[in-house]
Amino acid sequence: MPDALEYARSHADRFRDELFDFLRIPSVSAKSEHNDDTAEAARWLAGQMSAAGLESEVLATPGHPVVLGEWRGAGDDAPTILIYGHYDVQPAEPLDLWASPPFEPTIREGRIYARGSADDKGQLHMHVKALECWLSGAGTLPVNVIVVAEGEEEVGSPNLLPFVEQMRERLACDAVVISDSAMFDEGLPSLLFSLRGLAYLEVHARAASGDLHSGAYGGAVGNPAMALARMLATLHDEHGHVAIPGFYDHVLEWDEATRASIRALPFDEAKFRDTVGAPALVGESGYSTLERLWIRPTCEVNGLLSGYTGEGAKTVLPAEAMAKVSFRLVPDQDPRRVARLLEAHLREVRPEGIEIEVVELHGGNPWRADPSGPMFEAAGRALENAFGAAPVLVGEGGSIPIVGDFERVLEVPALLVGFALPGCNMHAPNEWFTVDNYDRGIGALIRLYEELATSLR
Ligand code: BES
Ligand code: MN
Ligand code: MN
Repeated sequence: MPDALEYARSHADRFRDELFDFLRIPSVSAKSEHNDDTAEAARWLAGQMSAAGLESEVLATPGHPVVLGEWRGAGDDAPTILIYGHYDVQPAEPLDLWASPPFEPTIREGRIYARGSADDKGQLHMHVKALECWLSGAGTLPVNVIVVAEGEEEVGSPNLLPFVEQMRERLACDAVVISDSAMFDEGLPSLLFSLRGLAYLEVHARAASGDLHSGAYGGAVGNPAMALARMLATLHDEHGHVAIPGFYDHVLEWDEATRASIRALPFDEAKFRDTVGAPALVGESGYSTLERLWIRPTCEVNGLLSGYTGEGAKTVLPAEAMAKVSFRLVPDQDPRRVARLLEAHLREVRPEGIEIEVVELHGGNPWRADPSGPMFEAAGRALENAFGAAPVLVGEGGSIPIVGDFERVLEVPALLVGFALPGCNMHAPNEWFTVDNYDRGIGALIRLYEELATSLR
């Protein structure tokens, strides 16, 4: 391992240059105009994995390809880890809010500003570099490695589960390792005990067959914008609970030990409020901010569309209204069931004279870890060594849809160890990742592979 760590130190500048090349490719999975870029990012990544000493392939799917890398030189007696990450990124818009262009990585005050620097190209690249450090610096690796990098995480991973099911035997492993999340604070490494799941839907409300003069028809014909607003207003009660019948049926009441460990974290509520810039923090009564984010489910409107929104006034009775509605889910909620409950509830509260249509867009299961046992201890040692502080256990309000599926299909536990920092602007303008965490994180991963070699055996 000393050789691998030394290799990391002496090649740090080149690693960063290569990361910048990766970040320059605008692999925006949601936009078909970027399909060639997304394909190029996959090829580029496969090239990096080959250069690191893995056997790598770009495997086609009905959507964006999966990049698969393998190194099985540690032999049958050594454990195998599967490293998962995603090379696709969110759209960079609104572009005018970026201080430097999203696909021209720029360092300011120790931060690499670029779309994907934190989510997830930077963190995925750290694994590829840590593998290179072992294979080129030490000539070997203490574990067998499979890398699965997908190009569709940001659009709900529609083709990954079939891929994993099809490749089940080839992907057989002892643990899945993922770096696609954040540390609780700078200098405080973190291991995840949970991720929320997701159910994402579109709700359409319609009345007349076309837009109407609001004077000639208003008062006698339904208004889809008003109707949709009324329906959406029934989704919560006055205590911030979701008011859809059956919604909480399978919601896990977390154990007191987990809630106590959340309370023990050094969380600065006022600082959190300041960073989001809201006048006050609000949510479900009876729960703290971190509990609301990590261990409680939510319902949000992500977008609303109806009627005239241009300059000045237009007297129109809109024919349609649309809302994007999503739920963050916790164990053991099921995204499909929640989608059905929403539809049933909306049909119940639908005003007369309005037709509705509910379309399911995508979903993902929530995930929860068992943080006791040798794998978490091994990760703890690696992180403490690299960061000089023992990791804390944290939840995560965001979702990584495939994690639960990996555990179920491959029958192994997942370890989520992320290196982004709070406020890193994932999905927003001016996304950043620190040079320090990139360098230190590679050191932590080099150590992690060695710790896992003994703890997973
Ligand atoms: N890496 C994020 C998940 C995440 C967010 C982890 C914040 C830690 C902190 C992931 O890429 C993501 O954005 N997931 C989407 C999933 C969706 C597009 C299916 C999410 O949570 O909205
Ligand atoms: Mn991500
Ligand atoms: Mn993301």
